[in-house]
Amino acid sequence: VAVFQPVDAARPVRWGIASTGGIAHDFALALSLLPDAEIVAVASRSAAAAEAFADTHGIRHRHASYEAMAGDDEVDVVYVGTPHSRHCDDALLYLHAGKHVLCEKPLALNHDQAARMAHAARSRGRFLMEAIWSRFLPAYVELRRLVAGGAIGDVRLVEASFGFAAPFDSQHRLFDLSLGGGALLDVGLYPVQLAHMLLGPPDDVRGVAHLGPTGADEQSAVLLHYADGPLAVVLASITTAYACTARVSGTKGAIDLPPRFHCPAFLDLRVGTTTTRLEVPYDRNGLHYEAEEVHRCLRAGDAESVVMPLADSCAIARTLDRAREQIGLRYPGE
Ligand SMILES: NC(=O)c1ccc[n+]([C@@H]2O[C@H](COP(=O)([O-])OP(=O)(O)OC[C@H]3O[C@@H](n4cnc5c(N)ncnc54)[C@H](OP(=O)(O)O)[C@@H]3O)[C@@H](O)[C@H]2O)c1
Repeated sequence: VAVFQPVDAARPVRWGIASTGGIAHDFALALSLLPDAEIVAVASRSAAAAEAFADTHGIRHRHASYEAMAGDDEVDVVYVGTPHSRHCDDALLYLHAGKHVLCEKPLALNHDQAARMAHAARSRGRFLMEAIWSRFLPAYVELRRLVAGGAIGDVRLVEASFGFAAPFDSQHRLFDLSLGGGALLDVGLYPVQLAHMLLGPPDDVRGVAHLGPTGADEQSAVLLHYADGPLAVVLASITTAYACTARVSGTKGAIDLPPRFHCPAFLDLRVGTTTTRLEVPYDRNGLHYEAEEVHRCLRAGDAESVVMPLADSCAIARTLDRAREQIGLRYPGE
């Protein structure tokens, strides 16, 4: 549905970057390699960080607050790369100012916030997408094609683990509850989104976790159950390195995603005793595929991506809420 004036093909899509953190640098690098992208602005809590980021990436407008970039008339679309706890407020700030938004994962801390963001985008006719880059990588395009084509029959089980050992730091966004800390939202999201991509929202959610000294889940296990039979097994950790693999098992075969399964370079298709390796590498740092989807939508006047629609993001947020209810994890203000 065309709800806004599409961005003319004759000019670049003009980006603003909100934050100067790790993933914001990676995303700016990805954009700099797209011929029809221009990064016109960066916003930070500090003028010094905005200046340094802008110098590194050759950006003209340096905003010393997130609010200041909302008034920047040259910005079409804002990439929100702040900690989880700010995603909702930051995205609303830019949507209310008439910008389109690509927001880092998780879209929000919880379903209530995600629904408010989706409502703000829809009611203002602005584009909003959660930056789950995996869905746009060649491996995930191929995975969807194989499953839709019946290569493994009906999907009955999705198993995936994502765990890494971060050094404990109570102030870091991974551990600090006020910044949305914990394994489930940071990396558990990837197995959960894989299950949602292939099976949709589950009917039942069961979760157990170990909460560390800050109250954040350092290790979580979540089971998703679908009334017609399928299951998904989700393992997430920020204190222990896991296999970081995934397997999708169906009635006729299975597909293995090697480490790290959220950005694999190949898929192993197993049918009977035959395994076929499908090479599906991505180039550069892989973040340009999601940016290209944003460009495609903005040029077509599409307010949502069909690959990562807001209904999926809200459903994922609901599943994570249900898991957190069971493990007793609440964020400040919830
Ligand atoms: N798609 C992916 O592969 C991927 C990978 C990593 C992270 N992420 C997501 O991206 C988001 C940011 O992660 P990151 O690893 O880039 O984090 P990070 O390196 O800690 O950067 C976060 C940035 O947010 C800004 N910020 C605003 N308010 C803040 C606050 N109260 N405390 C700390 N920083 C604050 C800071 O920039 P200023 O100082 O300029 O304001 C900071 O540099 C997270 O939601 C994460 O889930 C996605």
